[in-house]
Amino acid sequence: MNRRYRKTVIAGNWKMNKTPAEAKALINEIKETIGKVKWCDVIVCVPFVDIPVAVKATKGAKISVGAQNIHFEPKGAYTGEISADMLKELGVKYVIVGHSERRTYHGETNETVNAKLHASIDGGLTPIVCVGETQAQRDMGISKDIIRAQVKTAFYKIPADRARKIIIAYEPVWAIGTGLTATPAEAQEICSEIRAVIRSLYDARIARAVTILYGGSMNPANAAELLAQPDIDGGLIGGASLKAETFVPICVL
Ligand code: PGA
Repeated sequence: MNRRYRKTVIAGNWKMNKTPAEAKALINEIKETIGKVKWCDVIVCVPFVDIPVAVKATKGAKISVGAQNIHFEPKGAYTGEISADMLKELGVKYVIVGHSERRTYHGETNETVNAKLHASIDGGLTPIVCVGETQAQRDMGISKDIIRAQVKTAFYKIPADRARKIIIAYEPVWAIGTGLTATPAEAQEICSEIRAVIRSLYDARIARAVTILYGGSMNPANAAELLAQPDIDGGLIGGASLKAETFVPICVL
């Protein structure tokens, strides 16, 4: 990571876990044990229904609340969907866009991810956009091609002044929830490639300013080595974010 040029972030992705009462309890536990976090911004990305409780519970603590999805239109006949304005009004600051589980189970494509990035930025939210190759793509040796296409389409028509604020998460699909982690060298190689794509789309200054996270079975035992890589500026943490005892140690490394 490089704290001189860019923001460093540890974000929990709770996925479909924790009722509002459980969310309140977990955030209180995190607050009690986290103390002063020096090196990163801490975010918890919670289910929609937990947002009001999470915003209230994090008040006064240096923890921000994120959502896990957003619709690409600002309003309209989209039954079951949630817009940027709705999230913003509740006090949400960040939103995960294009998580592989949404790509796999909810039909998200590189194009909807791009539309959602525009919607998040237009709505005043900071997106955390996820990219990553599957095991099959890795086996075929096309990881970098997949990542390049994902990043290029995600950033399509995003102006430079906005691009620099977008957080990118490299999450190899084969490492998510599996207990398998990319080696620090593997993760660094792809994160550096992502930065190179941003450099080619914009310029060196913007590439240097963009925060890139690693996600995929990050835990207190492997976090330090991953975060020591020059192009890894933080983590998107799934399983280990569901308990204070495994999330907090990553935040206070
Ligand atoms: P994991 O999930 O840490 O449980 O692998 C990461 C993610 O999906 O964001």
